[in-house]
Amino acid sequence: MINMNMKTSIEHADHPSCQYLPFYPMTTVERMTAQMISKIHLGIIVLDECSQVLEINPVAAALLGLDRAQVLYRSFEELVAQLGLHAHEKERLTSFVYSVQDGREMEWEWHDEGEARYLTLRMQAIKDHELRLQGYMLVIEDVTALRLLELQVRRNNRLATIGQIAAGTAHEIRNPLTAIKGFLQVIGHKLKDDGQGKECGYIEIMLKEIERISNLVGEILLLSKPRQTDLRAVNVTKVLREILPIIKNEALLHNIDVFFEKSVSPLPVVIADGEMLKQVFLNLCKNAIEAMKQGGLLTIRLATMVSERKLRVEIIDSGTGIPDDVREKIFEPFFTTKENGTGLGLPICRQILLELGGTIEPDSSESGTTMRVYLPLGMKPE
Ligand SMILES: Nc1ncnc2c1ncn2[C@@H]1O[C@H](COP(=O)(O)OP(=O)(O)OP(=O)(O)O)[C@@H](O)[C@H]1O
Ligand SMILES: [Mg+2]
Repeated sequence: MINMNMKTSIEHADHPSCQYLPFYPMTTVERMTAQMISKIHLGIIVLDECSQVLEINPVAAALLGLDRAQVLYRSFEELVAQLGLHAHEKERLTSFVYSVQDGREMEWEWHDEGEARYLTLRMQAIKDHELRLQGYMLVIEDVTALRLLELQVRRNNRLATIGQIAAGTAHEIRNPLTAIKGFLQVIGHKLKDDGQGKECGYIEIMLKEIERISNLVGEILLLSKPRQTDLRAVNVTKVLREILPIIKNEALLHNIDVFFEKSVSPLPVVIADGEMLKQVFLNLCKNAIEAMKQGGLLTIRLATMVSERKLRVEIIDSGTGIPDDVREKIFEPFFTTKENGTGLGLPICRQILLELGGTIEPDSSESGTTMRVYLPLGMKPE
């Protein structure tokens, strides 16, 4: 039982880890209780029956950003005043504590320097041996990790549903498209034979646009369906060298220098589908180029991490960077900040890498973005 008349406490020389031992002799149970409060992973604030703060443990002080000395023996209201809350939040917290119902719980979303923390608050009555009320214990549990996990699961479920609908729709669009494309080609030939060059040009534009829709539909299907992968030992330097002309061509148009650090040993061989890898690197380089509207430098760097049996490929740009509020959404299908973007580039990269046992990690600042791709190192070269 906690001694509710405790008026002060000192840092004990014998027990430097426990600052919660009072001056007067304590019973073993009191000592154990005081130590427990200081060590427990829950936040605990002990209040007397008039809601005066008798104790606050390190976890509670850290969670609420309070200094123990500043709140001890003050009223709970004074403690709340130090939290810098909005009036309605202050009111909610104090009325919860002042309503002093044993076992009462409330969930509280607390914003700590812009970051949301989810806390569960529970009031527990403290009674003496004759069951007379002596005070209360406010137990604070940080359930942030749990809540964020729940949010993630909800978001993933939503994305899975959107994915299924998109895949179904994409499939249904593809079939009529094939028929339209076929007939347009027939009409195009006919118009050409009849010497109607202008109309023939219209058909060509229509066919090009259909090709665009078809590619988009293909990408959606790629995202949602398992594919046949052609896994074999692939030299990643070779893969990158093959797509380099396309990247350089695009970079040239945007006044961007491309630097390919290709010297790497041992050989960067991974077990993968070369065509899929090309798609990953093309998408990442396209994003990098699109982030450097005023020109800049695109670096492609390889490193074999032999002890971790991984290959790291970095696509580094000197572009605008990814703002914090955007970063958490960039792998969501259809999320884009670009006028003509579809928002499928990164989700496709992630999906492909998942199938190849790899990962992708963005690292961004105001001076640019680095996309790190990790692939499991393979055994033998192609
Ligand atoms: N290197 C980068 N620098 C800055 N922002 C980036 C970078 N890479 C991705 N992003 C951000 O992530 C978003 C999603 O990228 P993603 O490749 O999935 O789609 P997109 O490029 O917008 O469209 P799509 O690739 O389908 O044409 C982009 O719209 C952009 O805001
Ligand atoms: Mg993209």
